[in-house]
Amino acid sequence: MLSKKMQAALNEQIKIEAQSSQVYLAMASWAEIQPGIDNVTAFFYLHSDEERMHMLKLIHFVNDRGGFATVPALEQPALTYPSISHAFKALLEHELHVSASINNLVDIALQEKDYATHNFLQWYVAEQVEEEALARTLNDKLELIGDDKSGLYLFDKDILTVNVEGAE
Ligand code: FEO
Repeated sequence: MLSKKMQAALNEQIKIEAQSSQVYLAMASWAEIQPGIDNVTAFFYLHSDEERMHMLKLIHFVNDRGGFATVPALEQPALTYPSISHAFKALLEHELHVSASINNLVDIALQEKDYATHNFLQWYVAEQVEEEALARTLNDKLELIGDDKSGLYLFDKDILTVNVEGAE
């Protein structure tokens, strides 16, 4: 059984994952109307789907543990970006914020001596390590590329391979 505090914190995380899905969906839609970045577009759509999966996993866990998962209202995400590298910087910052939130959940689980939730959260801890690593790799590549159009062409060509190796 979840404590009230644990349930509230998990419900807050449900909102963060749902909001993440929304942020990446908006990035995908923006990328889709930019010329020549079809794989970057696919990457953002895929990432949005993954965040929805993260949210669903939390919803099922809360309900299975005798709580009630609440589906949240969401905020309008940023709709456009000045450049591809701005979008990927925003993605990294967003993931750092998600990691901090997961770490906070782990703290609460330990305070509450809720070892089942603590165990459940380890999947998210591992996932955030991968997501941060992937976001940093992509940002490093973009920094090297700068305004070089052929570099950007190769970035788009490779991004789905980096995704397969770097995250699920
Ligand atoms: Fe579910 Fe990208 O954090």
